[in-house]
Amino acid sequence: MASRRASRIGPVLVTGANSGIGLASVLQFAARGWDAWGTVRSEAKADLLTDAARAAGVSDRVHPVVLDVSDHEAVVARWPELPDFHAVVNNAGYSELGAVEEVTAEQARRQLDVNLVAPAVVASCALPAMRARRTGRIVMISSIAGRAAILPLNGWYHASKYGLEALSDVLRMEVAGFGVKVVLIEPGFFKTEIEQRAGAQAAERSADEASPYRAAYARMEATSSMITRLAPPPDLVARTIVHAVETSRPLTRYLVGADALTIAATTPFVPKVVSDTIARFTAGLQGGASDH
Ligand SMILES: NC(=O)c1ccc[n+]([C@@H]2O[C@H](COP(=O)([O-])OP(=O)(O)OC[C@H]3O[C@@H](n4cnc5c(N)ncnc54)[C@H](OP(=O)(O)O)[C@@H]3O)[C@@H](O)[C@H]2O)c1
Repeated sequence: MASRRASRIGPVLVTGANSGIGLASVLQFAARGWDAWGTVRSEAKADLLTDAARAAGVSDRVHPVVLDVSDHEAVVARWPELPDFHAVVNNAGYSELGAVEEVTAEQARRQLDVNLVAPAVVASCALPAMRARRTGRIVMISSIAGRAAILPLNGWYHASKYGLEALSDVLRMEVAGFGVKVVLIEPGFFKTEIEQRAGAQAAERSADEASPYRAAYARMEATSSMITRLAPPPDLVARTIVHAVETSRPLTRYLVGADALTIAATTPFVPKVVSDTIARFTAGLQGGASDH
């Protein structure tokens, strides 16, 4: 059934498909009969995706594309060689870990390029065919970090996901009349490579003896390793993404995970002085009173 539907309405594209949520999504799409294309940044990562697809018994429906979605000109140039996608899932992303004071302008721009501008570029490339067909789906992988700015040292990650939420809300209104639906996915913490990478960045920054945020970086390194150990696998996020593409009436946003649901439900009601104090304490940023 799913297979017939997929071949009738076309393939899906997932960006950042070699690990974590992207990899789990590609495998689930393929398992449900979709032709699943996935962008990766190197031939070695394409091999990882192919091997995972083979192990899952879906290699005939998984198609790696070596393309760095943060290279916007390369995306535009490559697009005509790709099939017309029924759905694109803008998943590739990372967290530029660092205090706002210490993140350079270049690092900040790179964070926005990958997490915010790239999804818009991919959507712009996919839209002409979707509009012509009068159907299509654009799925944006945001985060609970796009709803609540509660993680010190993650300012630019929060900014990128808040930006993605706003951009997606506007895009949804712009393209609804053409039969295209835009859906946001807002996961809490899940076990992928993202925390490991953030932890490594925290370790690097905590080695700088001159940094006034040294203790917080060290705490963040420990927290990242704890999250990596304890968080659930990303399958539930992948299932939600597949649902967002397959259902005829998707919600505008899907919170995924008990932590995301709890944070979204409580944050609007917790006074800032309370949530800031908890967040600063958790992040190892004690000392100096918050001014409210
Ligand atoms: N895991 C969570 O707890 C969580 C929670 C909320 C939202 N998210 C979001 O979920 C998405 C997927 O993350 P994940 O958790 O699955 O992490 P992941 O395992 O680290 O996977 C991230 C994917 O994005 C690609 N990527 C990373 N940096 C990139 C860059 N500079 N340019 C191009 N591609 C890049 C990676 O490719 P390379 O391997 O080549 O770097 C990889 O394919 C992200 O948008 C993230 O913000 C994750």
